[in-house]
Amino acid sequence: MSTKAGKIGRHKFHGDPARFDVVAEYISQNYHGKITRIADVAGGQGMLCRILNKKYNFECEVVDPRSFTLVGVPNRAEEYQAEMADYYDLIVGIHPDEALKEVVYSAKIRPVILIPCCNFWSKEEALGRDALIQKIEEFYQENGIKYQRVTFLFQGPKNIALISEPPKSS
Ligand SMILES: C[S@@+](CC[C@H](N)C(=O)[O-])C[C@H]1O[C@@H](n2cnc3c(N)ncnc32)[C@H](O)[C@@H]1O
Repeated sequence: MSTKAGKIGRHKFHGDPARFDVVAEYISQNYHGKITRIADVAGGQGMLCRILNKKYNFECEVVDPRSFTLVGVPNRAEEYQAEMADYYDLIVGIHPDEALKEVVYSAKIRPVILIPCCNFWSKEEALGRDALIQKIEEFYQENGIKYQRVTFLFQGPKNIALISEPPKSS
């Protein structure tokens, strides 16, 4: 069965809406007490931030030029650039589309949770899910970025994350 869209309360989302709870819980379990400020890059309506702020007491804001966040969710209405990363303790990009490269570049300076979706990495090559992840992993390896692949328990195929830490000197 493939889920094209789903609902949380009265809010509709493309894809499996469970991704927001699943990723928020992961962040709580792995970063709580260690970090404060989180950027939800290309966060769209901001459901991830809403959960992180209300349920887990983080300071999360969406960075997304579309600026259509849910009421009460902070939004920085700008195109995300890697140079913004140092303001935050953690960068999250769930299906970040045009912000993909800047999220990847951010991994050089901040911890990043990235769940790639479409190929906004290369205009020259057609990259499916696995090839896209492999390209990003190559970038991480070339730049001394430690990472692990994590398969999150929400509906695939776009449920594989690269979770990274910047090189020690950063
Ligand atoms: C596929 S949606 C994903 C939204 C959300 N993360 C989710 O999982 O539902 C892609 C989002 O990327 C945003 N976006 C596109 N270019 C961007 C950029 N340069 N910087 C930040 N966000 C961008 C769009 O406005 C859109 O909300």
